[in-house]
Amino acid sequence: MAILGNKISEVSDSELEFEMDVLEGLLKSPKTLPSKYFYDKKGDALFVQIMNMPEYYLTDCEMEIFQRQSGAIAKAMDMPINGFDLIELGAGDGSKTVHLLQTLLTTHQFSYRPVDISSNALNQLSDALQDQLPELTVDGLIGDYFQVLEELKSSTRPKVFLFLGSNIGNLEDEQAAALIHKIASTMKEGDKILMGVDLKKDPSIILPAYNDAAGITRAFNLNLLERINRELGADFDSSKFEHTPEYDEGVGVAKSYLTSLEDQEVELTDISITFKKGEKIHTEISRKYDATTVQNIINGAQLTIRANFNDSRNYFTDFLIEKL
Ligand code: AVI
Repeated sequence: MAILGNKISEVSDSELEFEMDVLEGLLKSPKTLPSKYFYDKKGDALFVQIMNMPEYYLTDCEMEIFQRQSGAIAKAMDMPINGFDLIELGAGDGSKTVHLLQTLLTTHQFSYRPVDISSNALNQLSDALQDQLPELTVDGLIGDYFQVLEELKSSTRPKVFLFLGSNIGNLEDEQAAALIHKIASTMKEGDKILMGVDLKKDPSIILPAYNDAAGITRAFNLNLLERINRELGADFDSSKFEHTPEYDEGVGVAKSYLTSLEDQEVELTDISITFKKGEKIHTEISRKYDATTVQNIINGAQLTIRANFNDSRNYFTDFLIEKL
């Protein structure tokens, strides 16, 4: 009964948080919605489709790095051969990591520790990896990043954190720095972070990645309004909004917006929200990096960049960062 009770309160807490975040963002000027809410069941499926779009080069680039350079990455990691933890923040389906896991298994004893909020996702990943790499030890960690990092503080095992896919780029620089500092607080001398980031480059390459011709990224953004309707009973008409991404080349940030196509009012939990024609809701940032931007977010965390591994087009890189 107690477990059931906890479960119920957990669900309603997160619903309440969703409602509070949505209201806070839409009552602000300019209006915003947090990108973490893209990922409901439909959003997850759309994101898988985005990763398969020809314009979304990020996934292919990082896959190429892992396919071709796992040997060099494993060597540069320079971890003890008789035991360490490889902790992956945001593991997804593990399709890139599998190449590194396979390489490491030939030389090292280690546990692969994927982190996810959903035990279901962790079980699926663990089953898939058991089929592909039966000798691998998979020991998942359930929770959000901050909870798990708090737990890991007491572990004395040598650690490598994997933080791939330019997921860090969806955080503002201050939030990214706070997360890196949090990770660093669990690390001992010689522990590493392997962090995949999308590099600054010509806007004509970046912008289409966030505006694919098939309209999948558009659907991904509009699904956020539809999710608010489904879960919070709002009455957004998604046909009255358009997905209008931009790229700020000076800063190196792709920004996603939903733009109101007309003057309109939307009802959300008895509150009426007014939109002017052309008014934007900012939904996401996707930061693009260079060594200086990465250095800025790791400053003060006793970390140093040891190496980086680029794809053949130099669109994407995985930085190997070491704790001093
Ligand atoms: C998950 N993240 C790194 C993606 C990105 O490129 O910012 C999310 C995404 N949003 C639109 N397309 C992809």
